Amino acid sequence: MSEKLWIFDTTLRDGEQVPGCQLNAQEKIVVAKALEDLGVDIIEAGFPISSPGDFNSVVEISKAVSNPIICALSRAVEKDIEVAAAALKYAKKGRIHTGIGVSPYHIQYKLRSTPEEIIERGVRAVKFAKRFVEDVEFYAEDAGRAELPFLAKIIEQAIKAGATVVNIPDTTGYCLPEQYGAIIRFLKENVSNIDKAIISTHCHNDLGMATANTISGIQNGARQAELTINGIGERAGNTSLEEVVMAIKCHQSIPVYTDIKTEKIYGTSRLISKLMNMPVQPNKAIVGRNAFAHSSGIHQDGVLKHRENYEIIDPKEVGVHESSIVLTARSGRAALKHHLDALGVELEGEALREVYEDFLNLADTKRDIGPKDLLSLVGKYIDESSFVELVNVSYQSNGEIKANVTLKIGDKTYESSSTGNGPVDAVLKAIEKVVKPHYVLEEFLIQAITAGSDDVAKVHMRLMQGDRPYYGFSSNSDIVLASAQAFVDALNKIPVKDKATIE
Ligand code: KIV
Ligand code: ZN
Repeated sequence: MSEKLWIFDTTLRDGEQVPGCQLNAQEKIVVAKALEDLGVDIIEAGFPISSPGDFNSVVEISKAVSNPIICALSRAVEKDIEVAAAALKYAKKGRIHTGIGVSPYHIQYKLRSTPEEIIERGVRAVKFAKRFVEDVEFYAEDAGRAELPFLAKIIEQAIKAGATVVNIPDTTGYCLPEQYGAIIRFLKENVSNIDKAIISTHCHNDLGMATANTISGIQNGARQAELTINGIGERAGNTSLEEVVMAIKCHQSIPVYTDIKTEKIYGTSRLISKLMNMPVQPNKAIVGRNAFAHSSGIHQDGVLKHRENYEIIDPKEVGVHESSIVLTARSGRAALKHHLDALGVELEGEALREVYEDFLNLADTKRDIGPKDLLSLVGKYIDESSFVELVNVSYQSNGEIKANVTLKIGDKTYESSSTGNGPVDAVLKAIEKVVKPHYVLEEFLIQAITAGSDDVAKVHMRLMQGDRPYYGFSSNSDIVLASAQAFVDALNKIPVKDKATIE
């Protein structure tokens, strides 16, 4: 039976320490609510002693958020802990996160102390924090470079003093996965009271190992993971939430589950990237622009035949609408055909082969090939005869607005009428009555071209059939006629083989 992994999000504390990424209190509340929606269990909301702004943010986040535990960071210093406790006053469930450096570097050069004194300070801090909250997490900073017997000793004492969670940070991102897992295993096997606390991972990414180390920690017994959205954080960043959550979802051999609503991952990632002014690298796992984009011919052909040939995650699972087939000079014929089909252009055999050659020549000179380029490449092959014809459009307004349309689809003629909020609405509804339920009108845009009273209206619309979009355009000084023509234009983009489904 798999056990729950507690997801501790530190985007607003460790993540927000990145230079240039600071958020104001309002923005932090927006992020905290998005994290709550995503389903994180604990939000580390800030380090209250560090500034009045951080204090205030912890207060406001505590008021705004109901489900996750709100955690405040402190050093092993009484004043820090008092201020953290004060900032958590409104938290429905509050946690104080306190701790001290435990590696020889930290003990000797940062804290100028001795191992005995470090244990005493750590224990005192946990006991002091317990006066304010039941839930106290102890961090052993730089545990990744600590001497294991000493680490085990301080963790045992911290649990004895009341720590409910013990955090084992690889603060400098030094460990290899095997090493980090071995530290967690060592604690499981050598700390007598370890079953009274949850072990937490907290990994930094200086060697690009943060996700691998976190997974290794979990495989060796950790049941909380400290993570940030997009992996943001000091230097090379923290462990990325989306990577750990999806690795767990993809591999049943990792014996835990999370309560993250994975379909909200992409939206949360975009929100944080935008608010923090921190672009996501295009090849970033799970949330990068190219994470579900296929550009080489072999891969495109494989994905189009069967998505799982080249994808281990269905993009919808993480909130990405669909995989993309990017047109480049390395694309194959299958990719070109896929794009042409979406534009309503059906080419096969020799015609497709000829267009493909022209396409390759163009792709060698132009980086982004869009729908306009494709339509100009295939101009000579498009079947200009319209399957759907707009025979007549009229409307009257006698108190209520009513439109009548006559459409010819193939050999059949259809008369339809509908009322609406206005003439455009009434005309579109009248056409929809004939073609529904096969197509859904999803996007509709009218633009004036010159802004004069004799202006021409340009209409753009998108019809959807399942996941496939069909675009229609028209311009006319009669806005009602332009709208009806654009609708019919989109219907005519539907490939010949599917046209039968219009009726
Ligand atoms: O990386 C680290 O050690 C930390 C602690 C303060 C938890 O962020
Ligand atoms: Zn950290």
